[in-house]
Amino acid sequence: MTAAKDGFRVVPGGALTGITTVPGDKSLSHRAVMFTALAHGTSRIKGWLPAGDTEATLDSVQRLGVRVERHSPHELTIHGGAFVKPERELNLVNAGTGIRLLTGIMVGQPFESVLDGTEQLRRRPMNRIIQPLRLMGANIDSMNGYAPLTVKPAALKGVQYAMPMASAQVKSAILLAALFAEGETAVTQPGPARDHTERMLAAMGASLHEEGNTVYVQPGHALTPTNLTVPADISSAAFPIAAALIVPGSDITLTNINLNPTRTGLIDVLLEMGANLTVTETGLEAGEPVGTIRVRHSVLKGVRVGGDVVVRMIDEFPIFMVLALNAEGETRVQDASELRVKETDRLAVMVGELAKLGAVITETQDGFSLKGAQSLKGAETYGHDDHRISMSLVVASLAAKGESFVNDARCASDSFPGFAEVMRGIGAEISVVDVQGAEQ
Ligand code: S3P
Repeated sequence: MTAAKDGFRVVPGGALTGITTVPGDKSLSHRAVMFTALAHGTSRIKGWLPAGDTEATLDSVQRLGVRVERHSPHELTIHGGAFVKPERELNLVNAGTGIRLLTGIMVGQPFESVLDGTEQLRRRPMNRIIQPLRLMGANIDSMNGYAPLTVKPAALKGVQYAMPMASAQVKSAILLAALFAEGETAVTQPGPARDHTERMLAAMGASLHEEGNTVYVQPGHALTPTNLTVPADISSAAFPIAAALIVPGSDITLTNINLNPTRTGLIDVLLEMGANLTVTETGLEAGEPVGTIRVRHSVLKGVRVGGDVVVRMIDEFPIFMVLALNAEGETRVQDASELRVKETDRLAVMVGELAKLGAVITETQDGFSLKGAQSLKGAETYGHDDHRISMSLVVASLAAKGESFVNDARCASDSFPGFAEVMRGIGAEISVVDVQGAEQ
């Protein structure tokens, strides 16, 4: 195997077993920091995700003058209130949720700000937020629809907007700007994009209600500080879930997982594929249903995926492709062209990288099709600095014949710090090799 920069060495082995959990929900962790930063007073956040993406959001609110006390990596006190003009640009690093939601907040501030990030973030389309925010009167300059974004003070007015794509980031940016606008805003979504912003803003005193696919916001209700505990991220749980399904003899249980129905599309599709999954709701955290998921190795069958379920599992398609390869019969995915504008073009990158393990997958404009079950062989692959790609390739390698090396281990911690440790905890043989070649 060729020398690697940094990566995961994966040796397929025995069954995965045990009880575990995964870090806090990334979507909720971004929102918890931004929304409590806006609320005048002291809020406490537990179970917070200390990952690359969310740390960038935390750093940004601190640059806006918000004082943060850090009790542990997962526990924060946020002293929210009026923002001050930042001395430098707000650097959202790789975080699409961070830049899009924060732009929705910055358009309502009485000072100029610049929002930027890595080269990867600068390739993500921003017109999808710039266009509706401009309709509200926002003053935003961009590099032809890409970051850096320069936001200048402007008077905002409510808007009625029908989103062309089902995107929680776009919906949230508009709902946040609506808090600072004059008059009501109504956003209509074509599909059920995750509703964390609506739940959290309403719990903090915003005037917001839903009718069908439309969310209405009335401005003029200050947000109140809150204490909340972030449950574990189902999008991170998807990796051990997939590994247990495809490694023979496995039986694992994941606790405290966020089961918000706008996030559980993968579970619904897996049940349709014959997965041996038991989901038990145990309560509510941060206004979201949480529970336990038990997963046993299963003989999966191929499935057709399209329509509304796509947005409810949008971050799970890289790992779903791995599951489909291990399922008997044909799988077809359509209506998933949004995958092409994530951290990478996740359709093209996954098809290309899985081919190195011997997979045969037909890429289509808005999805893919394949015939399973395919047997894969160990190989060297690349994560393309995309966390979900790296972790999906690790899980694919666990069900391959022979050792694999997945380059780009670092980016897994953009959403799932401790990924290798959690996987090792249930029995997977995964080690992290750093730039110097040291292995842990
Ligand atoms: C997110 C929304 C989704 C998702 C992303 C997190 C959010 O993006 O892919 O990982 O927290 O609002 P889109 O809004 O672009 O679909």
